[in-house]
Amino acid sequence: MASREEVIIKKEEIENQKQIMQLVKNINSGYEKYAFVETYGCAQNVNDSERLLGMLDTMGYKKTLDKEKADVILYNTCAVRENAELKVFGNIGALKAIKRAKPHVVIGVCGCMMQQEYIAEKIKKRYKHVDIVFGTHSLYRFPEILYNVLNENKRIIEFKNCDGFIAEDLPIKRNSDISAGISVMYGCNNFCTYCIVPYVRGRERSREIEEVIKEATHLAKSGIKEVTLLGQNVNSYGKDLENYYDFADLIDAVSKIDGIERIRFMTSHPKDLSDKLIDTIANNKKVCKQLHLPIQCGSNKILKIMNRKYTKEEYLEKIMKVKEKIPGITLTTDIIVGFPGEDNEDFEHTLDVLKKVRYDSVFSFIYSKRPGTPAAVMDDVLSPEEKKANFDRMLEVQNVISAEINQTYDGKEYEILVEGESKTNKEFLTGRTDGGKIVNFKGEKELIGKIVKVKIIKAHTWSLSGELV
Ligand code: SAH
Ligand code: SF4
Ligand code: F3S
Repeated sequence: MASREEVIIKKEEIENQKQIMQLVKNINSGYEKYAFVETYGCAQNVNDSERLLGMLDTMGYKKTLDKEKADVILYNTCAVRENAELKVFGNIGALKAIKRAKPHVVIGVCGCMMQQEYIAEKIKKRYKHVDIVFGTHSLYRFPEILYNVLNENKRIIEFKNCDGFIAEDLPIKRNSDISAGISVMYGCNNFCTYCIVPYVRGRERSREIEEVIKEATHLAKSGIKEVTLLGQNVNSYGKDLENYYDFADLIDAVSKIDGIERIRFMTSHPKDLSDKLIDTIANNKKVCKQLHLPIQCGSNKILKIMNRKYTKEEYLEKIMKVKEKIPGITLTTDIIVGFPGEDNEDFEHTLDVLKKVRYDSVFSFIYSKRPGTPAAVMDDVLSPEEKKANFDRMLEVQNVISAEINQTYDGKEYEILVEGESKTNKEFLTGRTDGGKIVNFKGEKELIGKIVKVKIIKAHTWSLSGELV
């Protein structure tokens, strides 16, 4: 395991990258340059893309949503399931035409997929129009990579096999002025047997509490109202820090910042959900009453093979504690259907958990084989058709529960942080309750960024409609 000194990128190295950003800016001066960045995967990848856009902005590239207009095209990829990877291959294939028409356009692929050597190699060999390949561990070196490509007109395929770094003080360009994600720790040590994340994101490493506070304070000063503290295993924050602060301490520290009105966090591992953290969610007014607690499967046999380190009973006990201490809390989870070895009896346990917990919503996935993970060589019991049938059954059960829970919101008033105009109807605004439920209602644009009271007039399965009080 790398030492703290090896994990944190030295100030001089960050300074070096900043100087290179100026060099690229000089190359670009006098031209209108644009960058297109497409993101796949989780909130952490979204946050990484904000850093990439921050660096690109410093180098003189304006953000564009139009690929055809871009001088730099970057795909920040996700490796968690095969279909995410296939989509990326399809999309980079389609860039060939752009490269042929405009050879000066720099095409880059980065992120979790590129942290797998065989994939970086495949792109090197078969996608010759891609100029840049780099994985998550090289993100902070993006300015240098881009500079070398522009200057020397050659391809750079970088693969760094290591435990990962923490790079502070890179520029960032945020997607929203109201709500922001802050990565507080990186990587994962859990090695669930189905999951690629520990291989592509490296070992768990926490940012210093002062750095998180600095970032959150800066965000609050710029008008941000809500922060989401991010980590693959966010509630194990601090375990690697010399001055030990746990995740609950971090939340309390962030909540003392003036201007931050709401705090959310993602993702918690059930084994690391402490009583102290439950009390913090219950007692700290700024912490949203919402918990995403992935169970993955309800069968103890399967949980064991998944290496999840809890049983169905232990999980349910934690949930009951949470419900007791925080009545009305919004609960969500992740479920994998069709893990190797799962039979129909195992699957019944998953349905049983859904019925007992009554989640507000469930993110469910059919198991996808990830080369290099232990589960990739395990045998299936169920056929693809049987897995699909179970998956559909689960959705049916959950949709009824989601709709029933949303129905209980009808006629009640909630405080909503207004996040923007509704995407489908410009007359409507959209925002979230403290519990994270999406509410659409009619209102003036001036309300964006404010917390307003809204009465729910109609409940739908996935959202709520309301009117201003
Ligand atoms: N760190 C988080 C999230 C990891 S990835 C956690 O521990 O919960 C997000 C979700 O993707 C996981 O919760 C899991 O449900 C799903 N997932 C991960 N690997 C998968 C695979 N090989 N096949 C299908 N779903 C997978
Ligand atoms: Fe993957 Fe498990 Fe780590 Fe989550 S806790 S990122 S599912 S290995
Ligand atoms: Fe995907 Fe990487 Fe996130 S694999 S889920 S983008 S950490």
